[in-house]
Amino acid sequence: MSNHGLLLLFGISWAESGKKTMRRDRGAVAAQWAAKLREHTARLTGQRALQVEGKLVRMVGLTLEAVGVRAAVGDRCAVSVGSQRFIEAEVVGFAGDRLYLMPTGRPDGLQPGARVIPQGQGADVPVGVELLGRVLDGSGRPIDDLGPLRASTRASLAGFSVNPLARQPIDEPLDVGVRAINSLLTVGKGQRVGLFAPAGVGKSVLLGMIARYTGADVIVVGLVGERGREVKEFIEHNLGQEGMARSVVVATPADLPPLMRVHGAATATAIAEYFRDQGKDVLLLMDSLTRYCQAQREIALTIGEPPATRGFPPSVFARLPQLVERAGPGSHGHGSITAIYTVLCEGEDADDPIAEAARAILDGHIVLSRRLAESGHFPAIDIEASISRVMHQVTAEPQLQAARNFRQSFHLVESNRDLVNVGAYRSGTNPELDRALSRHPLLQAFLRQGMHEDVPLQLSVEQLQACLQV
Ligand SMILES: Nc1ncnc2c1ncn2[C@@H]1O[C@H](COP(=O)(O)OP(=O)(O)OP(=O)(O)O)[C@@H](O)[C@H]1O
Ligand SMILES: [Mg+2]
Repeated sequence: MSNHGLLLLFGISWAESGKKTMRRDRGAVAAQWAAKLREHTARLTGQRALQVEGKLVRMVGLTLEAVGVRAAVGDRCAVSVGSQRFIEAEVVGFAGDRLYLMPTGRPDGLQPGARVIPQGQGADVPVGVELLGRVLDGSGRPIDDLGPLRASTRASLAGFSVNPLARQPIDEPLDVGVRAINSLLTVGKGQRVGLFAPAGVGKSVLLGMIARYTGADVIVVGLVGERGREVKEFIEHNLGQEGMARSVVVATPADLPPLMRVHGAATATAIAEYFRDQGKDVLLLMDSLTRYCQAQREIALTIGEPPATRGFPPSVFARLPQLVERAGPGSHGHGSITAIYTVLCEGEDADDPIAEAARAILDGHIVLSRRLAESGHFPAIDIEASISRVMHQVTAEPQLQAARNFRQSFHLVESNRDLVNVGAYRSGTNPELDRALSRHPLLQAFLRQGMHEDVPLQLSVEQLQACLQV
């Protein structure tokens, strides 16, 4: 090869190696940049978004109005009281650049211009087996004197919805320890029942009996908007030590701000959801759904939502199913939440919008009657007005048949009661009525139950069949 040729070859290979080095360099630089970018992205996503705090400009009733805050509906904010103390509030609405907030605690000491600092997404509550036997407030803080709560897990207050198609069917009965319910209004695991009753006819006693004697694994009691005195009474007298051992009580009495009462119902439900997802059959007792709706109404009205149905703004009826739908059977491998919600209704008041809405979304209703309570008949369950919509799914045919016979016999006497009372009915005229009349005292005795008497499911069914043999 000539000298020229050698030079050319050398030149080409030098140029090639130079290009390779440049490509390698560029590759290395790009990799370095990519690594740096990843590092910064990770740091940014690990950080909370920039907090833009604002100030309090107005307070009307319990509604706080703030400007300059960047927060979304449902977010929590800390509002300063003096230089050291903060109270918690939640964004419940907005108008233009003005945010409406509701405090979860007492708003004493708030001043114009107070700092409003966003705290991020909605509230969460502690959950875990450590909660059993404890009494909590609506934020999940213990209010008993058993020391701090050592739960390491937290659950979102808002919960998450279970895909309706993924839910297990309701096909197993739940023993509630009350004869009349077990036999004639059998409750299924995952059922949502309304306990419709006027004031003072034995709701708390009945809920206490159910909590003590039920076959459920865990009981979560939500006492929403009742008198403060009743909370202690319910825990000491109705639940007792026996019921308390496997119960969690969430108490938000009437003197707390409406948002706290709403949170009380949500906290009780979130705790029930936790145990359900651990595979437990949970019984959620909520007293009362009416007070929950009233708290929702207070919030909605104060932020300017117009009332629609008998003083209740439309959002109340939208939130009711959102709460109730969180109970029910879990998906495969999970347990269930059987829920009993008390609904206050005076007599046959069909106009009560809450009772009407609740009736439509619940899977059954147990009606307590003042007439029965006044005559000393306890539990004052009006068996004719009560129904369990899942009974046929969770009971066998012989029990269903016995329940039908019981109802027919009972109804025959009740519908002829006036005739019989005024002496207008002569025995022998209707043999079926004669038979029903003769066994009626037995049926009534069957429906009564002392508050310290436990009647398990199996025994209830046997006693039902026995009293129909007469
Ligand atoms: N099974 C029962 N046996 C005997 N008495 C009962 C029974 N259930 C309820 N009572 C009586 O009824 C009274 C009222 O009961 P309870 O406090 O449970 O009513 P309530 O519906 O919860 O009232 P409120 O609406 O005020 O909360 C009790 O003090 C008790 O005397
Ligand atoms: Mg009560």
